[in-house]
Amino acid sequence: MPNFYYPFVMDNTAKITIGEKTYDLNIIQGTEAELALDISSLRRQSKFITFDDGYGNTGSCESSVTFIDGDKGILRYRGYDIANLAENSNFLETSYLVMYGELPNSAELENFSDRVSNYSKLPIEVTQAIKALPLSTHPMGVLASGLQALGGAYPQFCTNNRGHDLESFDEAAALIISTVPTIASTRYRNSLSENMPSPSPSNTYCENFLSMMFGNEDGSGEIPKSVSNALDLIFLLHADHEQNCSTSTCRMIASGGANPFASVAGAVSALWGPLHGGANMAVIKMLNDIHDSGDDGSRFIESAKQGKTRLMGFGHRVYRNYDPRAKILKSACDEALEALGVSSPILSIARRLEEEALKDDYFVERKLYPNVDFYSGIILQALGFPTDMFTVLFAIGRAPGWLAHWKEIAENGKKIHRPRQIYQGSQLRSFIPILDR
Ligand code: ACO
Repeated sequence: MPNFYYPFVMDNTAKITIGEKTYDLNIIQGTEAELALDISSLRRQSKFITFDDGYGNTGSCESSVTFIDGDKGILRYRGYDIANLAENSNFLETSYLVMYGELPNSAELENFSDRVSNYSKLPIEVTQAIKALPLSTHPMGVLASGLQALGGAYPQFCTNNRGHDLESFDEAAALIISTVPTIASTRYRNSLSENMPSPSPSNTYCENFLSMMFGNEDGSGEIPKSVSNALDLIFLLHADHEQNCSTSTCRMIASGGANPFASVAGAVSALWGPLHGGANMAVIKMLNDIHDSGDDGSRFIESAKQGKTRLMGFGHRVYRNYDPRAKILKSACDEALEALGVSSPILSIARRLEEEALKDDYFVERKLYPNVDFYSGIILQALGFPTDMFTVLFAIGRAPGWLAHWKEIAENGKKIHRPRQIYQGSQLRSFIPILDR
């Protein structure tokens, strides 16, 4: 236990006074000196619960996966700074780190990579289930359904009825990480009435995904390194982000004893919305609209300040500083576009919006900075991904994070997650027969 950082905290307890009575609450301190009041005994002691709409001030768990300091713009996976990982690691190695807590040695990494690549083909029933969905199903809906079908195809890794099955976690996790790109590509190729090449064990994770998405049906053709590296970086930067909406959803589902397939499918649904993972799609739509309207960005900034719209890809519940992932992606964006020989008219609009917003009082006072979605969409578009798949790409990157949190719950979670509420509805009333209403 670290020494207490704040001198006024004399021991591990705080006192809260409500009316005449004072209650003792335990204090929990994190390894980075984060402090929390443990209110788990408050209701029993006082009949009060705490109220925190949107959970902005509520710690839902103790976790050792990811540390964020939103004021300083710090993001670390298992203690490693995101910029350090982005420079030296790759997505699969980082996935291992996120899920198992340590960087793998060569044998561990080879083992893990082999396991992942062994699973990359989908069982035929899962392919059929994906193809049976209406073509108008959003790729995120396809991914969530595909994951449920995947669990059905591997009942041995899906043992809800016995509670958490940690023994099959390694297999289930490799299977999920491996097949989320296959589910996504199957749907994409199906929508074009095309067949896709089978994943090849000699390809890297991202090469296989890009080949399944865009490669020749017979698997011929090379995937440029610059393209697979750019995608790998995007996945790595998305691998985890502590207790965000989708991860909290995953943990919530897992807390009821559900298997990893069901928990990750739920997280996919939670990620879908435009205020969360859907923002990367919304950014491209916003930039295209600005471009098509002939605005140089200034009219859009004004309407965002008036609350008529939001500057998508800006602002974050936790970061009150530049999102460190956006910083990395901003320079990666230039490199990727140059390597691909693509010029993007919306990139200059994005840069201008950023420049204007960062010196505008409205954004400065509210501490609104670019988040990870501001530049990722531009790279994904340049790589050739259709806009409606952007959030799926986020989900592919986030899969190891969700699995790491599932594992944490399976290992340490003692209680089903079940928040309370303040009821504000009608008081007791008598039923009125339908003819009297
Ligand atoms: N554009 C304009 N104004 C904004 C923006 C924005 N992008 N974001 C926040 N604000 C303003 C709000 O209007 C509010 O102003 P007010 O105090 O005058 O009412 C103030 O900043 C605080 O905003 P909240 O919505 O309370 O902040 P919150 O922490 O709840 O929201 C969120 C965070 C949802 C990310 C928000 O900033 C937003 O909608 N951003 C755009 C969508 C986006 O990029 N989402 C991706 C997030 S990152 C991720 O999930 C991967």
